[in-house]
Amino acid sequence: MIPQAFIQDLLNRLDIVDVVEAYLPLKRAGSNLVACCPFHSEKTPSFTVSPSKQFYHCFGCGAHGNAIGFAMEYAGLGFIEAITDLAGKVGMTVPDVRRDAPAQTSGVTLEITEALHRAALFYKGELKRSEAAIAYLKGRGLSGEIAACFGLGFAPPGWQGIASVFPDYRATVLVDAGLVIEGEDGKRYDRFRDRIMFPIISSRGDIVGFGGRVLGQGEPKYLNSPETPVFEKGRELYGLYQARAAIRASSRVLVVEGYMDVVALAQLGVNDVVATLGTATTPFQVHKLLKQADRIIFCFDGDEAGRKAAWRALENCLGQLTDGKEVAFLFLPDGEDPDSYVRKAGREGFEDLTRAAMPLSAFLLRELTHQGDLRTDEGRARVLRAAKPLIKQITAPALGLILRKRLAELAGLRQDEVDFLLEIRASERRPQPLGQIRRTAPLALQRRLLRCLLFAPGLAPRVDRAVVEGADVDAGANTALLDFLAVNPHLGDKVLLAVVSDHFRGSPYSEAIQEASAEILELGDGFDAEAELDGVVRQIREQRRSARLLELGGKPLAALSAEDRSELQRLLTERSAGVTALTGVSQVVINS
Ligand code: UTP
Ligand code: MN
Repeated sequence: MIPQAFIQDLLNRLDIVDVVEAYLPLKRAGSNLVACCPFHSEKTPSFTVSPSKQFYHCFGCGAHGNAIGFAMEYAGLGFIEAITDLAGKVGMTVPDVRRDAPAQTSGVTLEITEALHRAALFYKGELKRSEAAIAYLKGRGLSGEIAACFGLGFAPPGWQGIASVFPDYRATVLVDAGLVIEGEDGKRYDRFRDRIMFPIISSRGDIVGFGGRVLGQGEPKYLNSPETPVFEKGRELYGLYQARAAIRASSRVLVVEGYMDVVALAQLGVNDVVATLGTATTPFQVHKLLKQADRIIFCFDGDEAGRKAAWRALENCLGQLTDGKEVAFLFLPDGEDPDSYVRKAGREGFEDLTRAAMPLSAFLLRELTHQGDLRTDEGRARVLRAAKPLIKQITAPALGLILRKRLAELAGLRQDEVDFLLEIRASERRPQPLGQIRRTAPLALQRRLLRCLLFAPGLAPRVDRAVVEGADVDAGANTALLDFLAVNPHLGDKVLLAVVSDHFRGSPYSEAIQEASAEILELGDGFDAEAELDGVVRQIREQRRSARLLELGGKPLAALSAEDRSELQRLLTERSAGVTALTGVSQVVINS
C-alpha cells in the first residue's frame, strides 16, 4: 500500500497542468485551461483544467479527477504505475509498493532502464551502419521513418558488441537488464547478436526490453528479453506506446501476434495495433486495452494454432467485459499473418477484413456448439457443461444474459432452466433492487445534478421539480435535497456537506450523497457548478422530450387520445424549431 500521506504530498508537488500538457495542448480560458476532451469526441473544448484546484473536469462527458486520475485514464496506467510515474517526474521515490506491483522507480530499476535505453541507442546506431540489416528491413517493405518511429535497431554479430557503450562490461546491471548472459564459466557475452532489434516500450515511455529477430533464417527466429524487475511479458504490449493516439482516435485496438505485424501495419497506415509478446493475451492486458478503447479486435491466423490462441484470448477476456465494450476475432486466410495480408491487400483490404471480424459472443457460441452434437440430448448436455465455467466468468450483465438466452435456445431449454444448470444465482440474474428505488438511466445526469446542488446549494431555486422526477436513486436524492434546502435556505456552502450528510444518514439517499460529496471534494472550488447545472438540466429536458416523442410517435395515431396528439404535435414542432435534436419520429406520423 502506498501511504495516503505520500499521495497527498505527491499531489502537492505536482502541477496538473504539466501532467495534462504533456499529452494535450491546453489553451487559457480565464483562470482555467481548456482542451478538446480526450475522453469523448467533441469539436469545441469542454475539457477544463483548474490550476488553482488541481483538477480537471469535462463539461461535456463529466470526466473529472486529479493528476493521478488523469495519468491513469489517459495513459491507461494502473494506480501504482501512475503514482510511480508521476513521482519520478518530481523526483520523489515511492516508499512502499505491493510486491506484485510493476516496476517502481527504485535505484535498481532506474539503472536497468538507463542501461536498456543506452543499449537501444547503440542498436539504432548500428542499424545505420549495417547494409545487411537495412537491406533486410527494406526487403520487408519498411521505410526509414517507420523504423525510426519504432526505434528499430541492429545488434551486431560480435560477442561483446555493447561493450563499446558500457565501459564496465562486468557491471551487474547488464545481466539484470537481460542484455548480457553470464555462462557457467563466468564468461559474459551479449544476449542479442546479429539480430534486428525491436525495443519494447512501456506505457510510461521507458524501454523495458527487446525482441530480436534473426536476419533471414535461423533459430530461434525471435529472441526476447527475459523478465526483469522492469519487464513482465503479461503486462506489456508491443507497440502500445506508439499506438496510443491512434487507439484513442479510432477507439479501437487490434491485437496481433508479432512484432513485424505491428510495424508492417503501421507502415501501411493502420496505426491502432499492438502485439502480445509471444504469450497468450492476459486479463491484465485486456483490461488495460479496454480502458483505452471500446473495441478490441484480435487478429489470428486462420489455422488451428490461431484458433487455439484466439480461444485462450477469449477466456482471458470474459472477466474483463463490460456492456458497451466489444471484443471481436478476425481470422486470416490460412498461411497469412497480418503483415503478409496487409502488404497484399493494402490498408483498405485489411480494414474490410476487420469489419467482418467475428464478435466474441458468436465465436464463443460457435466453439461451444462444437463441443457436442446439438441433435442429441447428450450432445446438448455436453455443450451446457462446457459453457458453464465460461458463462459464469462474464461480468457484463447484458451480454451474459443474452448468451444464456441463446444457449437456452440451442439446448431447447427455458432460460431459467439454463440459469439453474449454470448455477447462476438470482442476484446475478436480476439487477439488484436498491430498496424500492431502482437505478435507471439517466443516472449520470442526475448524479451530476446532485453534485451541483451539494456544491452550490444557492442554485437550488433554478431546478424545477419536473427535472428531478425519476426512478433512480440520484433523482430521489435530488428531490429530497431540494426539499431539505427549501426549508433550510440559509445554510452556507461550507457547512452544507457536513449538515446534509448527517441529515440523510440512514436514509435511502445516504450512499448517493456520500459518493457525490466525495466527488465534489475532488472537483475543488473552481468547479463551475452554474455552467454544469445549466448543461445538465438542458440535457435532462432533452432526454425527456426525445423519450416522450419516441413513445408517442411509436403508436398508431388512432390509438392516441386528443391530449396525446396535441402533445405529439407540440413536441414535433419544438423539434423542428431545433429545440430538441433527437430524430426517430417523422412528421409523416402526424399527417397520416
Ligand atoms: P511468428 O513466428 O508468427 O513470427 O511469431 P512473425 O511475427 O510472423 O515474424 P516474421 O514475420 O517471420 O518476422 C509471432 C511472435 O511470436 C514470438 C514473437 O513475439 C513473434 O513476434 N516468437 C516467435 C518468439 O518469441 N520466438 C520465436 O522464435 C518465434
Ligand atoms: Mn510474419
